[in-house]
Amino acid sequence: MTQTIAGSNGVPGGDVNPLRAGVASSRITDPCNIVFFGASGDLCKRMLMPAMYNLRLEDIMPANFGIVGLSRCPWDDAAFQAEMRKSIDEFSRSGAAKDPLWSDFAKHLSFVDGSFEDVAAFKDLRRQLEDNDAKLGTGGNRLFYLSTPPSLFGKIIDMLDEAGLGPNANKTGWTRIIIEKPFGTDLDSARALQAEVSKVFDERSVYRIDHYLGKEPVQDIMALRFANVIFEPLWNRRYVQSVQITAAETVGVEERGGYYDHAGALRDMIQNHVMNLLALVAMEPPVSPTADNIRDEKFKVLSALRPMDRTRIFQDTARGQYDAGSISGKPVPGYRQEPNVDPLSNTETYAAVKLYIDNWRWADVPFFLRSGKRLQRKNSEIAITFKSIPHRLFGEAGDSIDNNVLVMKIQPEEGVSLSFSAKVPGPKMHIRAVSMDFNYGTGFGVVSAPAYERLIGDAMRGDATLFTRWDAVQQAWVQVMPILEQWEAATDESFPNYPAGTQGPASSDRMLASEGAEWRKI
Ligand code: BG6
Repeated sequence: MTQTIAGSNGVPGGDVNPLRAGVASSRITDPCNIVFFGASGDLCKRMLMPAMYNLRLEDIMPANFGIVGLSRCPWDDAAFQAEMRKSIDEFSRSGAAKDPLWSDFAKHLSFVDGSFEDVAAFKDLRRQLEDNDAKLGTGGNRLFYLSTPPSLFGKIIDMLDEAGLGPNANKTGWTRIIIEKPFGTDLDSARALQAEVSKVFDERSVYRIDHYLGKEPVQDIMALRFANVIFEPLWNRRYVQSVQITAAETVGVEERGGYYDHAGALRDMIQNHVMNLLALVAMEPPVSPTADNIRDEKFKVLSALRPMDRTRIFQDTARGQYDAGSISGKPVPGYRQEPNVDPLSNTETYAAVKLYIDNWRWADVPFFLRSGKRLQRKNSEIAITFKSIPHRLFGEAGDSIDNNVLVMKIQPEEGVSLSFSAKVPGPKMHIRAVSMDFNYGTGFGVVSAPAYERLIGDAMRGDATLFTRWDAVQQAWVQVMPILEQWEAATDESFPNYPAGTQGPASSDRMLASEGAEWRKI
């Protein structure tokens, strides 16, 4: 039985929002158990457990659920519950956990202390799940969430199989697996991991998470394109001059130097998050909004990407590494001075790539992708720059008539902005660029739910639309491999080549200048 705990409609525990009246927002998930591998880790504390709590608070998750943590950690159920309460208190968007919801929620949390290498721990897990099915009414449905270091993914999957927890052994309900990024560190390792996954799970049960896809404005890309008539006729090479996709951060590598120094910006952001944005913005309209129809179209875009010309990698890409500088007036160290980073590191903290999509819609339109850490501002956006007017009628001498630009703002602002030319009031025909802006917060009167909440809820309902299919992951690796290989083979002697708190390296500006283009200011 589903018990209503609090009001809904965007603000946890809040009143019904009149701007959203008539919009069904609660998407009830199936009863199920969700198992977090790596439950004592940072992701679980900061993101996953607060997401679970808010799914329950919002009534999206029904009352018959179980949450099981598995880690090597000397916790019992009570200690796990106490730790998770602390995480929710600290990180949940709805504030500290409150009774009566918390005391009910806590009863659904149990913990298995064990090693991912030990089949006995997985057998304990199985007993716990069977117990939960009997006591909590979870119906044999199981969602495994791999939030461990990626080197353990294959091992955990083997163990699940050995302990009789694979999908084929489950005769009563469904079995699904969520796999965190990165899915491989290059094409070969991604293929090797996929071989391990597919021994136990078929593609329909695999949910490869890319948290960017759970961001509300990212989901809106499709709505903007396919729920309006005015954009799609212009969305092609006849009208579009270029597309810029930016994922800029102000943070450095923080405590993740050990991981990041072997990854770099191309692997960490471009191969997954930014490529997913590219696919959504460039794909053809799907036949229907089903997960596979949408993912078919995204895959087609990635497979139409023009392979990188190996003789031009250093002209068609740019890489950077941050030096000491300042962010919001505070001094910050350079990348090579960060903990667990090689003091002579050749790892890029900024990557920019120029791509072309060789199909009828996009032939010869450059797509400029960039992502970097310690840049001037946090800003993720997609900007479509349209071609210039064919013939100039207006504007006093000296007035420039700017190209129209449509910007899909992903974060921190969430919205859409269209710039166009208008006459400046007065007797003369001066022309200036002005803009029409839409902002989600004020437009709908809600704060978007964090991506993990949306994505975990979707996996519990069996909706894989916002998860990356293997063919797309593979294709994205195919595209970036020539860049990775050349970057790794050639030390960049200019590193560090941008001070923290700036727009990135000059080489990136040169890459655009060679196309007669300029980056938008971050
Ligand atoms: C993660 C990367 O996938 O995305 C991090 O590993 C990065 O390095 C993060 O900071 C950015 O996510 P968001 O949602 O803050 O833009």
